[in-house]
This record gives sequence, structure tokens and C-alpha cells, in this order.
Amino acid sequence: MSLKIALLPGDGIGPEVTEEAVRILKNVAEHSGRAFSFSSHVIGGAAIDGEGTGLPERTLEAALNADAVLLGAVGHPKFDGRLPSERPEAALLALRQALGGFANLRPAIYYAPLAKRTPFQPERVRGANLLIVRELLGGLYFGEPRGFEASGNTAFNTLIYSRHEIERVAKVACDRARERRKKVASIDKANVLETSRLWRAVVSDDAKAYPDVELEHVYVDTAAMRLATAPASFDVMLCDNLFGDILSDQAASISGSLGVLPSATIGGKVDLYEPVHGSAPDIAGKGLANPIGAIASAAMLLRFSANMDKEAAEIDHAIEEALASGARTKDLAGPGDRVLSTRDMGQAIEEALHEVRDRKHSYHGV
Ligand code: IPM
Ligand code: MN
Repeated sequence: MSLKIALLPGDGIGPEVTEEAVRILKNVAEHSGRAFSFSSHVIGGAAIDGEGTGLPERTLEAALNADAVLLGAVGHPKFDGRLPSERPEAALLALRQALGGFANLRPAIYYAPLAKRTPFQPERVRGANLLIVRELLGGLYFGEPRGFEASGNTAFNTLIYSRHEIERVAKVACDRARERRKKVASIDKANVLETSRLWRAVVSDDAKAYPDVELEHVYVDTAAMRLATAPASFDVMLCDNLFGDILSDQAASISGSLGVLPSATIGGKVDLYEPVHGSAPDIAGKGLANPIGAIASAAMLLRFSANMDKEAAEIDHAIEEALASGARTKDLAGPGDRVLSTRDMGQAIEEALHEVRDRKHSYHGV
């Protein structure tokens, strides 16, 4: 049976980077004998332009009927003047809600070949490899009431969390930690916010079922500082929706570019995979975008939605190898580096993938 993958390339650089992720998935299909079927659908600004709504019914239906959804990016500055509910981003939030995935996994890794691209001293960042587990369906993003008062001079949002919402994401964080270095840092602002006090209490309770996992509670402001001074001290960072949004962009500095960060959203009806970077309209259509975030998201798709751990790990290695051999898109290039196009970077990773497989075969042959 083939794995049904719904592609939602979206806006800006979304289509270009999604194409490279599909290239790698097709290569995996060819070599593994697993069949993937792809269907592509509009979302975000592209859908508002073509169909008058950011999340057309047909797109939503295709996503709900798929085995996994791979999304590019949404957003365009031409919608900046609109209310939040009428912007392309609203379509992404509605999609997340409909698919139901509440745990957004955002790994951030230090890649030695990119050391010069990070703002860090090498000795501070060496070995940094962390996973942000971001609560994705609650908190300030969705809390009601929200809006503007009639005067237009006052606006409000609601930060609200229930025990259930915290419990389920805390469990994902502890489960992931078990597969890693067995440490969870739960991020909150419990010195000021009631929701954070509840968050802290519930996470502490939940973690009791994981005596092998070491739990610490860290204020979000302290966490931001520690991400900048000692990122390798983190393993899993458990965050609410807004803190996770902010800290995951900050964590990108560990890799040197937001362009390399992937994400997976799990726990709902259909899991959703998307690079963390946005639509970057300023470079869209120019072949300048970095496809690594999308390709690494495809690797996460194989890991979580296709049970293909080996193939996922091979893609991750191929990305590292391509970087080690000097492949650079514009965001990663230093002075004097040759700059690859989006497509050439996809190709470089595909070639590296062949090498990774060949090497494995020869190990096994000995
Ligand atoms: C992200 C993005 C989205 C978010 C936007 C586009 C709605 O910034 O995935 O991090 O805030 O969740
Ligand atoms: Mn974000």
C-alpha cells in the first residue's frame, strides 16, 4: 500500500523547497521499494488569491485523508494590512487545528561545517543538539476571548491552558527525552503567570512516571539567555505555544540559519511536517532558498509517519555530508564560498544520499 502524502507547498519559497523534499522522497521510494503517492494542494496566500480563502475545503479534505502532510510555508507581505483572521497564517493555524497535532517537534543541531555561520564561539556550541517540543494548539494563539475593543485603542488575547493540554504534550517531551539524553527542561514564566504555575505543577506530576528522565524548570527569560550561552546544556525543551515559537527561531542560531530547521507535528489525526522557516517572499522564485529544512522535515515524515527510521537517518547523514563537502546555499555561504541554487543543493543531498547508502552496504559486505 502506498503512503499518501499531501503536499501543501504554499507561498513564497514554499514551492521551491517542497520540490526538493519530494525529490529526496522519490529517491527513497525508488531504493526502499516503499511506494509514496503525492497530491498537491493550495494553501495560504496562494489559495486566497486563487480561491478567496486561505484553506479551501478541498485542501483540508485532502490533508485529512492523507497519511501525512508536507507543507512548505505560508505568508506574504501584501496581506500585512489584514486582520489576523484574514491573513494566510490563519490558514496554517486552522490546518494545525483540524489535523489535531498538539506536539510540534523542532530539532536544532550544531553542524560543525557551518561553525563560521553561527554567532557562537565553537567551544560554546560544540555538541549542541536539542529538541524543542512546542505545544501547538493552545495558549495565546487560540485562547478566547480575543480581539479589539470597539474604540480600536485596546486589544486583548487570552493565555489559557488546561491540565489535559499540558499533560499530553509533557508526555511527548518525556517520551522523546527517553530516546535521547533523558533530560527535559520545562520552560515557563511561573514567577508571573498563573498558566505557568499550572504548567509547572502538571509537568512535575507527569514526569513522575519517568524516573529515568531528569526534569528541570527554567524561566523563559533565563532559557533564552542559556540558549545563547550554553545551548549544549539542553536536551529536550518543553515549551508552550508562544515560548516555543520564539525559542525555536532563537535555537536556529545554533545551526547558523533558520533555513535548515525542520519540524514535525504529531499526536493528531494526521501528522504535519513543515520547515520552521517562513515564506521569505524577498527571495522567492530566485532559486536562493535553502531546501534543507524541507528535506529534513521529509526525513521526520519517514521517521514518524512511515516507520522508516533507517531511511530517515540516511537523509540526516546525507545533509551532514553535503554540508561537510562544502555545499552551501546563499544563507549558509561565507565570503568566497560557491553558492548553490535550491535545486543544486537538493541534488547535492541526493548524491550524498547515494554515497551514504553505498558506504553502509560496503560495511555490511565486509
Ligand atoms: C512558525 C510560524 C507560525 C507560528 C506562523 C506562520 C503562524 O512562525 O511555525 O513558527 O507562529 O506558529
Ligand atoms: Mn515561528
